[in-house]
Amino acid sequence: MIHVGLLGCGNIGRIIAKGQDNFKITAVYDTAQEKADAFGKEFSAAAHTDFSAFLSEPCDVIVEAASVAAARSHAKAVLEAGKDIIIMSVGALADEEFRADLIETARKNSVKIHIPSGAVLGLDNIKVGQIARVDKILLKTTKSPASLNRPITEKTQLFGGKAHDCVREFPKNTNVAQSLSLAAGRSIDVELWADPAEDRNMHEIFFEGEFGEIYARIRNVPSPDNPATSYLAALSILSLLRNLDSPLVIGA
Ligand SMILES: NC(=O)c1ccc[n+]([C@@H]2O[C@H](COP(=O)([O-])OP(=O)(O)OC[C@H]3O[C@@H](n4cnc5c(N)ncnc54)[C@H](O)[C@@H]3O)[C@@H](O)[C@H]2O)c1
Repeated sequence: MIHVGLLGCGNIGRIIAKGQDNFKITAVYDTAQEKADAFGKEFSAAAHTDFSAFLSEPCDVIVEAASVAAARSHAKAVLEAGKDIIIMSVGALADEEFRADLIETARKNSVKIHIPSGAVLGLDNIKVGQIARVDKILLKTTKSPASLNRPITEKTQLFGGKAHDCVREFPKNTNVAQSLSLAAGRSIDVELWADPAEDRNMHEIFFEGEFGEIYARIRNVPSPDNPATSYLAALSILSLLRNLDSPLVIGA
């Protein structure tokens, strides 16, 4: 049984908790005391609003499902405490200096930083970008104006440029761009579109290189408790946890 510490008792946290199987959430942490307490009571986990107390719990792995700010504040301490971390708020790793320091800390403490596939697919084979010639890697994301909080009435391109610039302009819409960039080993090209005709969060990946061409399209439904989060992202972390102790490693 894997003992999990959950950092962030929100929508993703609840989906993970409801899918406990080969793992048990034994401790939770949230800055909102009522959320931590209610979660701890419902799922029989120790509830904390003090991070040091949370970190001293005997967990094997910490799941960050809170925010970019939370990942930036706490990831290093988790690794220094000798625990693996699974980071959902991948936008936190856009900062090169922070990312390098985190990877070095993990190396020194012989622990791992896991990045789930989240709201996309194909991170496994996008990693060939680190070893093969790449001619093009573009992520085209299309969302409804409501999901982007923009009063737009016709299809409009909001951003075109590199992933690391997108994170500055649209911090809440960069987890996918950042995950793909980490996999490909370079800051990828990104287009962000608002389209009133689109009711889902759509990601299209265009990947070309010496291996041939890949085109993938993902049309995500929103999570039941948080429309800003794709349900696929929550399921992906659940699947990562369920496979964490499996001897058969698929598509890693
Ligand atoms: N990698 C991906 O593809 C992907 C996809 C969807 C969502 N996400 C990210 O996952 C994270 C969680 O998503 P969600 O839908 O569960 O969000 P949510 O808003 O439903 O829940 C977040 C919870 O974390 C808590 N929290 C926020 N900041 C905190 C902090 N500094 N310390 C402790 N607790 C804190 C909140 O009180 C809340 O209970 C978000 O950052 C989101 O952007 C990633």
